[in-house]
Amino acid sequence: MSEKPYELLYPHLFSPLKVGKNIFKNRIFLAPTHLPITIDQDGFLTKEGQTYYGNMAKGGCATVHMGEVIMDRTNSLAHEDHLNMVDENTLQTMNTFNEYCHIFGAKTAVELNHSGHFAMPQFGDGSDPMGPIERDMPAGTHVRAMNEEDMAYVCKIYAKAANMAKRCGCDMVCMHMGHGWLLGSFLSPLTNTRTDQYGGSRENRMRFPRMVLEAVRKAVGPDFIIEARLSGEDCVPGGIEIDDTIEYVKMIEDLVDLVHFSAGNRLYPETRAIMHPSHFLEEGHNVHLAAKAKASGIKIPIGAIGSIQNPEFAEQVLAEGKADYILMARGLVADNDWANKARAGKAEDIRPCIKCFRCMDLAGGKRTVSRHNIADYLTDFPTVTRRIECSVNPLHGNAMCKIGFPAPKRTKKVCVVGGGPAGMMAAISAADRGHEVVLFEKTDKLGGQMHYAKHVWFKVDMEAYRQYLIRQVSKRGIDLHLNTEATPELLKAYAPDAIVVAVGAEPVVPNIPGIHSDKVWTAIDAYGHEDQLGDHVVLVGGGMVGCETALHLSSKGKKVTLVEMLDVLAPDGIYTERLHTVYFIENDENITVMTDTRCVEVTAEGAVVAGEDGEKKLIPADSVVLSAGMKSLEAARDQFFGCAYDVINIGDCLKVGTISSATQTAYDAALTIGLDG
Ligand SMILES: Cc1cc2nc3c(=O)[nH]c(=O)nc-3n(C[C@H](O)[C@H](O)[C@H](O)COP(=O)(O)O)c2cc1C
Ligand code: SF4
Repeated sequence: MSEKPYELLYPHLFSPLKVGKNIFKNRIFLAPTHLPITIDQDGFLTKEGQTYYGNMAKGGCATVHMGEVIMDRTNSLAHEDHLNMVDENTLQTMNTFNEYCHIFGAKTAVELNHSGHFAMPQFGDGSDPMGPIERDMPAGTHVRAMNEEDMAYVCKIYAKAANMAKRCGCDMVCMHMGHGWLLGSFLSPLTNTRTDQYGGSRENRMRFPRMVLEAVRKAVGPDFIIEARLSGEDCVPGGIEIDDTIEYVKMIEDLVDLVHFSAGNRLYPETRAIMHPSHFLEEGHNVHLAAKAKASGIKIPIGAIGSIQNPEFAEQVLAEGKADYILMARGLVADNDWANKARAGKAEDIRPCIKCFRCMDLAGGKRTVSRHNIADYLTDFPTVTRRIECSVNPLHGNAMCKIGFPAPKRTKKVCVVGGGPAGMMAAISAADRGHEVVLFEKTDKLGGQMHYAKHVWFKVDMEAYRQYLIRQVSKRGIDLHLNTEATPELLKAYAPDAIVVAVGAEPVVPNIPGIHSDKVWTAIDAYGHEDQLGDHVVLVGGGMVGCETALHLSSKGKKVTLVEMLDVLAPDGIYTERLHTVYFIENDENITVMTDTRCVEVTAEGAVVAGEDGEKKLIPADSVVLSAGMKSLEAARDQFFGCAYDVINIGDCLKVGTISSATQTAYDAALTIGLDG
């Protein structure tokens, strides 16, 4: 028997971290996340912000990092909205908020960041942005080189903001020295080509960032915690490498208490999906950077960040001495109670993030469809909505209105038709609100269209989410009927108060000659039957589903011709996911892309396609896989109309959408059942 009266399941993850006079209660930090809804027009913390960050503290993590802040209104901002660290009035909400987080023993931090050459004149006083060197940015903004007067000014605004953070009741600040922002741009040899004492050697490149750190330390005193976020590497040839970063950290160890290593540089879009890791990357893809730094003799605690979301994995990283603490952004967005669930031995109840980027890119309007989209990204946000959502966490972004939703007046009998992501989420949510739930699924398994994920090497997280939903259904006493096609007659026997219809959608089959041939498959049916497709496949439709199917078939050794009638691939993709998907397509020698091209006929030999000029061409193929969109199963859906007091359509049968729309509509349906008695 253990010597200890109480044994933790993840002893490293939940051991306290002592830094000077400060103790972090465990090794789990929320990484910096800024959401537009967390602040009002003046940059003051909103109720939504207090709820979002407060839930992270309540969920058990040791540190709640808020995002970047406004330190100055001249030329430091690359976004229009940030938390205000300038005006005294920010103290009002920040003091209360910090007190709330402290109830749970969590520390709080804001991130100090000057955008440098990425700053947008329209978000400041209209003056040119400044950086290490004079340059024109890809979007055309002129950047002027900083002189020593500018440097002194920047030191001053950092120091003032740090002082304000302390007065706000925060326990620490995080200095953003990575991703190519101002301080990071001085560190990178790609962007700092100065020939004076602020450029050239590592020591010279660190000179100005160190001046800023000295000013901040002076402003906050010795016991206030300063953390630094650095790019362990720029991930671009000629850029920062981990050996540079290790030397940089050694130069500032006397000024900062903690350091963590992200990766990538915002100037190079090809690194974005590493900085904000996509599903193509393995869990903990940056851990090797922290591990190398740990082995280098750096004395301050080192954090690992990037694509970490399993407690076992996080524990192993710490146990193997590769890092001293773990930071997570999306893992905690997907499940705010991550830390509490892990500590209580309920890791299997942690809702996994599927790395879809909706929480990050959607609200920023980063959904541009142009092929070389860095310029659009930096200047133009035509699809900005400020809408915040998470594909798997129905409370993300709108917790304020849903957490306080009234309880149902009485328990209702709820029949849910369809066991895909929407149906399962509705069944789980209705059961959690105390209803008696019966779930019907016509096939022999739950999961609906998510079923494909188990075949695909880059859909590990989606498969984990499918498994999570199945587990949660099984834990709630939901009366599950597999292999059962629900009909109005069948449901009558159950006398439901409410029917939630989640029958989904079916693939669109274009009306072209030969389309009903044996060699034609829909994308969803092709998964799991790859060996029947032959070696040469024509894939019709280059949206996200088509692109992902092409990559999947290529990984199975097929030669794929991807035919898309638009001039771009994956216009329906979320910005970062799309960047990486298109990158993988363009670098896959098994895949040939034909844009501005449509399939006009399927023959015994293959697919006949026509380009913009109308000229037809046969592409020999063993099979043709269709990815031409989906349409709601309207007849299957509408048969339930009038069969119960409440009949609520959700997910794809309501409107063809995403996992996110499935989650939201399902959760919302469960919220409204039983409210009126
Ligand atoms: C919604 C959201 C907002 C973010 N905001 C910031 C930010 O303000 N500052 C920053 O340095 N990083 C920001 N990030 C990046 C994260 O701190 C983190 O580096 C990245 O998401 C990788 O970690 P993950 O794989 O655990 O999500 C944000 C990420 C997300 C998902
Ligand atoms: S929106 Fe997507 S990427 Fe963001 S936390 Fe939710 S599941 Fe993860």
